[in-house]
Order: sequence, then structure tokens, then C-alpha cells
Amino acid sequence: MPVNQVPFITLNRFEPGFREKFLGGVATLFEKTQFVGGPIVAELEAALAKISKSKYAIGCANGTDAIQIALRAVGVEKNEKVLVPDMTFWATFEAVVNVGANPITVDVNRESCHWDLETFKKAVTEFKPKAAIMVHLYGWASPDTMEIRKYAKDNGVLLIEDGAQCFGTEINGESILGSALISTTSFYPAKVLGASGDAGAIFTNDELLSQTCRILINHGRTDHYSHGLIGWNSRIGAYESLFLSLSLEHIEARLESRRQAVKYYAEALQGLPFKPVVAAAHVKENGYCAVGIIDPTKRAALIETLKKANIGYGTIYPGAMSLQAGAKGHMVGSIDYGNAHYVSQAVLNLPCFAYITKEELEYVCQTVRNHFKQ
Ligand SMILES: Cc1ncc(COP(=O)(O)O)c(C=O)c1O
Repeated sequence: MPVNQVPFITLNRFEPGFREKFLGGVATLFEKTQFVGGPIVAELEAALAKISKSKYAIGCANGTDAIQIALRAVGVEKNEKVLVPDMTFWATFEAVVNVGANPITVDVNRESCHWDLETFKKAVTEFKPKAAIMVHLYGWASPDTMEIRKYAKDNGVLLIEDGAQCFGTEINGESILGSALISTTSFYPAKVLGASGDAGAIFTNDELLSQTCRILINHGRTDHYSHGLIGWNSRIGAYESLFLSLSLEHIEARLESRRQAVKYYAEALQGLPFKPVVAAAHVKENGYCAVGIIDPTKRAALIETLKKANIGYGTIYPGAMSLQAGAKGHMVGSIDYGNAHYVSQAVLNLPCFAYITKEELEYVCQTVRNHFKQ
């Protein structure tokens, strides 16, 4: 059957036998009434730590909580300043406000769509923040990740890394999540490693930080009825943990399929006004997103063509954080070169998901190429 539609993402391409294994596992957990905690969570956390090359991995309720827990664990307190990129998902900004701290938006580099060292240095010098949240968007990472980490450390800025989109991403051959001071991820179903519901995790190599995170996700408990901190309930569910554990058995194949898709677009769409962008050479992306940049005045027309061809698309993200209505009254500063605003108007994401077929990729590429021939 010739392809005549491609969704932006689909969540239903599982490996043969995955569904049966999951449902069988759910039945077992149900019979044991193991709904929260238990060996399935410990098993998942051990597998997450191993694959992300992190000493500790702590499962939690979602990726937003993971950032809030990380902020609390490093010691960010009320009214302290935290840098966030102007180009990210709103949860990064929200997390800072939710722990009572004050966000400062810092612009990204126009080419890499991530923070660069120079702008980060300027923000640290100007605002003297307690902490910063570096976000690894699109399954890439800032090309300056290592330099930013070093600069933050040397200048006493606690650096949290929001890796909601970068599970499996590497820099200089090292796992991003596993080499940060503290990093977080989201297992929202549409992520590279998605759960059967909401879930997230925090990663660190620091024992004390890991213990604090564990206490915070479970009502500040130091034992069942002793509460050493004000935490909240951010425990990961057992069914989600099972789903994630089973997914991890296939993670390499899923990552490879996504990476191949991104590569396919990059090669097949060369020389067009829509320019595929990939991660820097020293960053091994995870294929979370297929990203392209187009002159903002030409984006709507290409979107129309994709819609007519029943091709899903994304504009991740269509507005900078500093422009969100909810940012008013919370932001206490910004560094704004207009780059996040430009990228938000110029970015266009093509379909990308694990096990997308060559025929589907070709249908998308053919549609985009034909658009520019007209
Ligand atoms: C960059 C980023 N940060 C944080 C989050 C929040 O994760 P969750 O939806 O699991 O709370 C997401 C999820 O979309 C994200 O993409």
C-alpha cells in the first residue's frame, strides 16, 4: 500500500510480543497488589542507572516533579535566582516558580538552539544566580555542555540538567544524564523512553543528593512515620515501571531507528529553503526530534502543504518562555538577543518516531521537495 499519511508521532509501534509481555506483567502485579513501590521499581531504577551510566537513578511521578526535586535537593530556596533557557518547554520555567525561586530567562544560540558559554557567562556575571537549569532540547545537547558545566562549578552555580528530551544522548561519548551533577528526565509517553502514563527520573552520582531526592519524592520520609523534610508524593507507579523496564529491553533498537530517521531527513532534504538541523558533531543525538529551520515567512505555506498531504508536524516550541502570559510577575530578569523568538518562529519538526518506515520518510521528503518545486 502506498503511503499517503504520516503522523507526527505514533505511540503504537511496539516490538512483537511487547503488548503480551506487558499485559502479562500487569496481571502479575495486580495479583500481588503491587501498585506502588516494590521490586519492579527497584529493578527499573537499577536498569536506568546502568544505561545512563549514573550511580543513582530515582524514579518519580513525572519530568516536571523531577526538576522540582532536583532544585530542592541542591538547596534552591525561596526567592533565589535560577537561570533557565528562553527556549524550552514551559515545565522548566514552572518548576523554578513552584519551588518558590525566581526564574531568569537566558537566550539561546541561534544556530545550536541551546545555551552557549558566552551568554551563560554573561548571565552568571550579571545575575549571580544560585542555580541554573541547562536544557538539552530535541535530543541534542548544548555544544558547550562541558564548558558550561565547568564554568558553573568554578563559579558556584548549581547546575541542574533538564534531560526530558535527551534520554540516550551522549556528548564526547559520555551519557549526558550520567555525567551531570544532577539531571532529570521525563517518561511522558511521547518521549524517547515513554511510559504507559506519566513518570520521570532524577540521575546523580552524588550519594547525598540521591538520598535527598529519595526522601523528597516520598513525603520527606526518613522512615515510614518520620519526616525529615517537606517533600510531597512523587512516587513512580508500578505499572509504569514495568512498562519502562520492558521498553528498556528495546531501547537501543528504538534509538537507532530514530537516529536513522533524522539522518534520512538531513540527507534527503539538502539544498532546500527548509534546512534540517542536527546535533553538533561531538553530540550523539537520540533522534527525539527531526528539526528544520525555515524562513518564518515561508513556514505557514509549508505547513499547509504538509497538512494537505496528511503529514503531522510540530513547531517545538512556538513561543519563548519570556513571552508566555504566565511568566509575568515571576521573571526577575532576562538576557534576550531575540534568538529564542527567531527560532520559535522558524522551527518546523517533521514526523519522527521509533520504527518509522523508509516509505513514510520518503513520502514526507517527497512532499517537502515538491513544495519547493512549485
Ligand atoms: C524540556 C522538558 N522539560 C520538562 C518536561 C516535563 O516533563 P513531564 O511532562 O513528564 O512533566 C518536558 C516534557 O515535555 C520537557 O520536554
